[in-house]
Amino acid sequence: MAPLTGSAAVPRVSRAMGRLRVPGDKSISHRYAMLAAIADGTSRLRGYAPGADCAATLSCLEALGARVSRGETLTHAVTIEGLGLGGLRPSNAPLDAANSGTSMRLLAGLLSAHPFRTIIGGDASLSRRPMRRVIAPLTQMGATIGAVDGHPPLTIDGAALRGISYSADVPSAQVKSAILLAGLHATGRTTVVEPAPTRDHTERAFEAFGARVHCEGRSVSVDGGQRLGAVDADIPGDISSAVFWLVLAAGTPESDLVIESVGLNPSRTGVLDILRRAGAEIRVLPPDAHHSAGEPIGALHVRHGEPQSFEIAPDEVPGVIDEIPGLAALAAMQPGISMTVRGAQELRVKESDRIAMLARGFRALGIEIEEFDDGFTIHGGPPAGGEADAAHDHRLAMAFAIAGSRAGGPVHITGADAVAVSYPGFFDQLDRIARGL
Ligand code: S3P
Repeated sequence: MAPLTGSAAVPRVSRAMGRLRVPGDKSISHRYAMLAAIADGTSRLRGYAPGADCAATLSCLEALGARVSRGETLTHAVTIEGLGLGGLRPSNAPLDAANSGTSMRLLAGLLSAHPFRTIIGGDASLSRRPMRRVIAPLTQMGATIGAVDGHPPLTIDGAALRGISYSADVPSAQVKSAILLAGLHATGRTTVVEPAPTRDHTERAFEAFGARVHCEGRSVSVDGGQRLGAVDADIPGDISSAVFWLVLAAGTPESDLVIESVGLNPSRTGVLDILRRAGAEIRVLPPDAHHSAGEPIGALHVRHGEPQSFEIAPDEVPGVIDEIPGLAALAAMQPGISMTVRGAQELRVKESDRIAMLARGFRALGIEIEEFDDGFTIHGGPPAGGEADAAHDHRLAMAFAIAGSRAGGPVHITGADAVAVSYPGFFDQLDRIARGL
């Protein structure tokens, strides 16, 4: 395997067999770390996501006074001594959220409620991402937030907040979560009404740490002033990482793969329905997933099936927003099928412009793709081979690698080291599958 900086060579996979695990869920890890930092007592989080994004959250929390210890690396156990509600302390340097939109937006919610100034910035990609979506509601609640034309770095002057009722205009779990985290510290009740349902990890995490949340249709409310208790929790595997192996097995004849201990929160499993429509055979083991700290968890058994063209409808998009690059790889690696997604303009403001960069990368591998403002149609491959640029985007690097592992000729990925954001061991795992281990 070539080094992961510069251009990485993608191994050829002839079938995907065996059992594997994926890193802990990124969304849950961020939330548990933040809630642990403001809980009373010491929380222990096993299976904490090992990537750079969740490490950035831990470093920010440490800078804000929380004591964090990163225990056994094999189990990714993290211990956090909570400072109690409203107990974060001023950082003596600007915070660095690196590449992580979730770190920045959720911390903005927490910091809005702490009466001191915090500056929080990030890398070049994060510095291009829209922040007005959190600045507007947090300002209404009483915080003062400066930005550079709506972009990071943010200068947050926290204050005593008041509860609000807010109708969000983008379906975004990050926006909802920022408001709810602020609302936990505000006077009265804070309500968020979403335009479409988004992942509900914050709501479940609040309950796991002992705070009550009221959900009714698309509205979620929290009463301010509820103190949190520490937890001892196992974080499930990230279905947004599992999708790459699901796709590899689904798109490669004679494959049969089990992915153990995956988070199966219904607000995240839309990708399984789409994979089944695309022809994959997927079973959940056991059929009724058990729970860990309020999050369902189970194994996924995937086998190759007869490939079918598939579409992702606009109302499905919020539930699979992070899985779209992986699903595109499924279309790109199989002959005679196509995939169309519309209503996915949010993809343009992710770690990269995921419509433009995905189209550019797949084209470089010899795949035909039509680009729309709000989506794309990708036509079946397999890729001829070539060099695709990950555009500093972890999910694009993995999508190109999965499709590339079925290419007719050699595939190289520029900037493959971006996988470290969510899945540092991705290429080692791909290598093991390629070698039949
Ligand atoms: C996330 C929400 C989604 C998702 C991101 C993680 C979260 O972003 O794309 O990877 O943990 O809340 P948006 O809230 O911007 O849709």
